[in-house]
Amino acid sequence: MSILVTGGAGYIGSHTCLELLNAGHDVVVIDNLDNSKEESLNRVQQLTHKKLKFYHNDLLDVTAVRRIFKENRINSVIHFAGLKAVGESNQIPLRYYHNNITATLILCAVMSEFNVFNLVFSSSATVYGDPARVPVTEDFPFGPTNPYGRTKYMIELILRDLYASNPLWNIVLLRYFNPVGAHTSGRIGEDPNGIPNNLFPYITQVAVGKLESLSVFGNNYPTHDGTGVRDYIHVVDLAIGHLKALQKLKENPGVVAYNLGTGRGYSVLDVIHTFEKASGIQIPYKIVDRRPGDAASCYADPGKAKQELGWSAAKGLHDMCADSWRWQSDNPDGYED
Ligand code: NAD
Ligand code: UD1
Repeated sequence: MSILVTGGAGYIGSHTCLELLNAGHDVVVIDNLDNSKEESLNRVQQLTHKKLKFYHNDLLDVTAVRRIFKENRINSVIHFAGLKAVGESNQIPLRYYHNNITATLILCAVMSEFNVFNLVFSSSATVYGDPARVPVTEDFPFGPTNPYGRTKYMIELILRDLYASNPLWNIVLLRYFNPVGAHTSGRIGEDPNGIPNNLFPYITQVAVGKLESLSVFGNNYPTHDGTGVRDYIHVVDLAIGHLKALQKLKENPGVVAYNLGTGRGYSVLDVIHTFEKASGIQIPYKIVDRRPGDAASCYADPGKAKQELGWSAAKGLHDMCADSWRWQSDNPDGYED
């Protein structure tokens, strides 16, 4: 029996494929390589000395998706595939709604056809929007503030309706906080297109000399040093969370949501200083205006995942910085090298 990983060539998907292979699972990947390179999967196979099966297809192509289920005995699906850039989602919302939601509808319809009812879905802390207080628990009200976030929120609702219509479904919704870092080998990591929007890839590109200096978006937030506070989580911890979610599916949990975060919030300045220690490189930065739409502080209460999945993050901020830096410095142009 195989695990189908949609979006498996991407950042979190590739790290999860590696952990799945190491744990002895058979892995089938579908990815249209819209935001990734097949090289990530080549490296996963090199690192694990195991093979996976790759379909270079779009989830919107129902014929291709059916073929994958016909050709493989799929037991469970981990659904990463989606577009994820917040700014872009404001500019081209229809593409985001179509790609993220329609693709999920097609995937679930084909799963039903083939009697596959086990699903782990990549949701996001973005469904909470700007939380009224921290730490954030899973029962907080939803308040996504952009089309990307609304696709995650809507998909969560759709999956709940699906379960209500047929209790054979088992669905784990994983709400990631801020995934960062890379595999400790330095062979796989995050490879964003163009100038990064997110803090970690921006810092590593400054460190490697591709960008001049970091803009810190605001230092007048009500946080310990005035800069924004987030719950950064190492991508390898996150990947392991997916293996725990697969275990959970075996208990027939219905639909259940978990925050995947460390439970610790770090400010932008905390990250800069830790990165400088981990890499030995100074990061030039300047304070600029706040970025519209940013929350002051957002971090998880990961207690439910600990209690019900037996999962908690093992790696700290220093590991996240050291591993991001190893990946970036060994692969200055990502998978192009
Ligand atoms: P990513 O862009 O690296 O990976 C997503 C993959 O999906 C890419 O390889 C892309 O080519 C593929 N894809 C997109 N649309 C597809 C389609 N229609 N058919 C087939 N493949 C398609 O992103 P990631 O950081 O690995 O994120 C994985 C998932 O986790 C996404 O759903 C994202 O929204 C969610 N998430 C990410 C973060 C984050 O900060 N990285 C935070 C919260 C949630
Ligand atoms: C952003 C998205 C969120 C998405 C997440 C994915 C927005 C408003 N939110 O979250 O929906 O799920 O990415 O990882 O885009 N910062 C700087 N300078 C920079 C970049 C970031 O100071 O060049 C600050 C931000 O203000 C924030 C922190 O660093 O305080 C983290 O930013 P980022 O990595 O973009 O993540 P989020 O804003 O949490």
